[in-house]
Amino acid sequence: MVMFKVARVETTPYNDQKPGTSGLRKKVKVFKQPNYLHNFVQSSFNALTTAKVRGATLVVSGDGRYFSKDAIQIIIKMAAANGVRRIWVGQNGLLSTPAVSAVIRERVGSDGSKASGSFILTASHNPGGPNEDFGIKYNMDNGGPAPEGITDKIFENTKTIKEYLIAEDLPDVDISAIGITSFTGPEGQFDVDVFDSASDYVNLMNYDALHGVAGAYAKRIFVEELGAQESSLLNCVPKEDFGGGHPDPNLTYAKELVARMGLGKSSCQDEPPEFGAAADGDADRNMVLGKRFFVTPSDSVAIIAANAVQAIPYFSGGLKGVARSMPTSAALDVVAKHLNLKFFEVPTGWKFFGNLMDAGLCSVCGEESFGTGSDHIREKDGIWAVLAWLSIIAYKNKDNLSGNNLVTVEDIVRQHWATYGRHYYTRYDYENVDAGAAKELMAYLVKLQSDLTEVNKIVKGIRSDVSNVANADEFEYKDPVDGSISKHQGIRYLFKDGSRLVFRLSGTGSEGATIRLYIEQYEKDSSKIGRDSQDALAPLVEVALKLSKMEEFTGRSAPTHNK
Ligand code: G6P
Ligand code: ZN
Repeated sequence: MVMFKVARVETTPYNDQKPGTSGLRKKVKVFKQPNYLHNFVQSSFNALTTAKVRGATLVVSGDGRYFSKDAIQIIIKMAAANGVRRIWVGQNGLLSTPAVSAVIRERVGSDGSKASGSFILTASHNPGGPNEDFGIKYNMDNGGPAPEGITDKIFENTKTIKEYLIAEDLPDVDISAIGITSFTGPEGQFDVDVFDSASDYVNLMNYDALHGVAGAYAKRIFVEELGAQESSLLNCVPKEDFGGGHPDPNLTYAKELVARMGLGKSSCQDEPPEFGAAADGDADRNMVLGKRFFVTPSDSVAIIAANAVQAIPYFSGGLKGVARSMPTSAALDVVAKHLNLKFFEVPTGWKFFGNLMDAGLCSVCGEESFGTGSDHIREKDGIWAVLAWLSIIAYKNKDNLSGNNLVTVEDIVRQHWATYGRHYYTRYDYENVDAGAAKELMAYLVKLQSDLTEVNKIVKGIRSDVSNVANADEFEYKDPVDGSISKHQGIRYLFKDGSRLVFRLSGTGSEGATIRLYIEQYEKDSSKIGRDSQDALAPLVEVALKLSKMEEFTGRSAPTHNK
């Protein structure tokens, strides 16, 4: 067995290593600065209890973006030096974010070992490549993202770090070959176990009975397990730069799929398929499309919740509760009310759902940012969302033996609106805004919302046809399980008719500030649920832009995106 020594290397802190909504995301160039990654990894080890590091088993993998392979070798050497007992790596360093969650929760090593955490190497839906983004985040032993208590500690450590530990003489491990490589260090044996990226996750999907039911996973599940044709898969070979594309599943970036589904300007001439879906770089996000029809993520989670018990065997015993992030539309709230389900509104970020699930309070949850998931793991899960939708489509067509007059995705959504009302919804993103200007805009809105009479005077002056603002606040969350409090989570204007305006600063960008404006109009009247979304939202959009003085503060007359 190869022996290794532990080196203590002196280092100096960087001051910009604050983890965002979902880990630390920076340009590759930033990560390649001397000791930059090392500092963050050591700071993470130092933020964990000794038992979670010494003698522990950790997973290290990611979405395969540029710099991942180098980062994996560095983390292996640092883990060895910090007394970690074994590292599990998905073959070629590839594991989707939901698969990491499944591996932490389900995988048992050949010697009976279980993982207690993971470094996930991804910047999710941000582009990859030498000039683009890299990212790293830590997940805990429940399979979910580290809570703020830990990420705050990591950040504190990065500001004071003086040294890190590394096994410099440990040879690079071949992560393309499945198998265990063992080494000996000052504290005994250290193993690197390279395993098949798909099997644990696929097993979980099976035993969740989603009718036996992103690249490696899509092929295994949709083609090998479900018998779909390989030609139904687009872009399923993982690449370091995501083929130069922007790996975010939405109407702007999933161009090829959007065209095939008969949506968008360059839509294909052929008859589109009945169902289409896309995932992001690390396969936790999803977008669901029907033929010439887009399902908003906020509707998607509401529809899954409304149909879960009947359509998805995993939930046949009933839902423990449902949850959404604050800016996600209130479509889920209406379902929860009708079905008498426990309901939670949490800040943006998947980590807030984990505590609810661990406490048995939540089965299904989702976010407007194209994340949908359940308590089978502690991450959102793109493939799960697709399987949930396929299950619902199958259930709605169970008596339709001929296969004619299929109940389509569009039918399912329209039926849902007819029952529960429709939440017209859009999001305006102002990217790379001057950070000072963004702060000023938010400060202005915080001040404004404290005086409702004044707010209503302004609102009515802009549009007399919108309803009154009944309430406004800066969203604050007290976790019902551990009592922790998260402040400054966005500003809400709640209208009497159930409509909402939300303003928030994004926590995932790697440059400048991004302001997000979420606009939502609730329509209960079933004769008015078929309107064009832009028309229905126009009055509220006007109110939001003028009320916030968006152009005055940011100098932008239009958003970067309008999703
Ligand atoms: C990541 C998190 C999501 C969150 C999203 C918000 O994807 O995993 O849970 O909804 O970021 O991003 P934002 O840019 O709005 O902070
Ligand atoms: Zn992602």
